[in-house]
Amino acid sequence: MVTETAMSITPFQALACPLDGKPLAHSGSAWRCPEGHSFDIAKQGYVNLLPVQQKRSHDPGDSKTMVAARQRFLDAGHYHPIADAVGHAVLGYAESQLLSSEPFSCLDAGCGEGYYLRQLADAAASAQSLSLMGLDISKWAVLAAARQDAKQSPLSSWVVGSNAHLPVQTGTLDSVLCMFGFPVASEFARVLKTGGVLLQVEAGPDHLRELREIIYPTLKPERSSEVEAPEGFSNQSSERVSYSLTLKGSEKIADLLAMTPHFYRASAEGRARAAALEELTVTVDVRILIYARI
Ligand SMILES: C[S@@+](CC[C@H](N)C(=O)[O-])C[C@H]1O[C@@H](n2cnc3c(N)ncnc32)[C@H](O)[C@@H]1O
Ligand SMILES: [Zn+2]
Repeated sequence: MVTETAMSITPFQALACPLDGKPLAHSGSAWRCPEGHSFDIAKQGYVNLLPVQQKRSHDPGDSKTMVAARQRFLDAGHYHPIADAVGHAVLGYAESQLLSSEPFSCLDAGCGEGYYLRQLADAAASAQSLSLMGLDISKWAVLAAARQDAKQSPLSSWVVGSNAHLPVQTGTLDSVLCMFGFPVASEFARVLKTGGVLLQVEAGPDHLRELREIIYPTLKPERSSEVEAPEGFSNQSSERVSYSLTLKGSEKIADLLAMTPHFYRASAEGRARAAALEELTVTVDVRILIYARI
């Protein structure tokens, strides 16, 4: 029998200096490393841990327009069943740690504007203690996430950084989420504890098929669904979330297109065909792949 304690959701603290990997300590309005590097916490509550030498462009990641489109689309609840399934999976693992004195930690690597971490916090039972971190290479995404979490006690640490060099201390996380993102398995393996879990969410073969049929002249054949566990991980389980979604109004259809890679891949004619639609029924088909750190 588990004793109920007050739920606590706290920002993850085991950050590391992006320049030398040393632990960062929170001091006033900055994070500091023992070598003297210092990273200011912006007034919106996020910290930029992406040094210029790790940037591959001046303004990497999703643009302000894409972030705003994703925020409107997700806030309308269109991907709620995905958030539900992911939250259920993460909280299932967190439950196994209910008696531990440590909170269950979760990094959303490529968190966008933070929708899935907010949903996770909402779904947590009162007995679950979570320690959350959202990281994205896009300053616009992290800014939007921090703004929506601008409470007296924020739910999550919000960090501008790259999955390729996570500013996180080695072996400190219980779980990593990578949703429609850019997985870097070696870094995920480094920051996870042994037995920690990686939950990767990616498009399945039918994802947004009807939209793709409109914007592309022909559809590419789908990859095989056999997925090998990345190095350092074993296959744990997988789940498919699939449903049909009707979008009414050209703005909603434009928002969906703007938040996917198809926005860049499609030709101008393809985008124009999508822009002319007033209503669209699309299949949502995603896979949640769960791997355990060995
Ligand atoms: C398709 S969006 C998904 C956002 C969010 N996970 C969601 O599902 O709503 C991909 C995100 O990955 C971010 N991104 C791209 N390269 C990245 C990298 N190297 N490290 C971290 N984030 C990255 C982009 O800025 C963008 O926010
Ligand atoms: Zn340092």
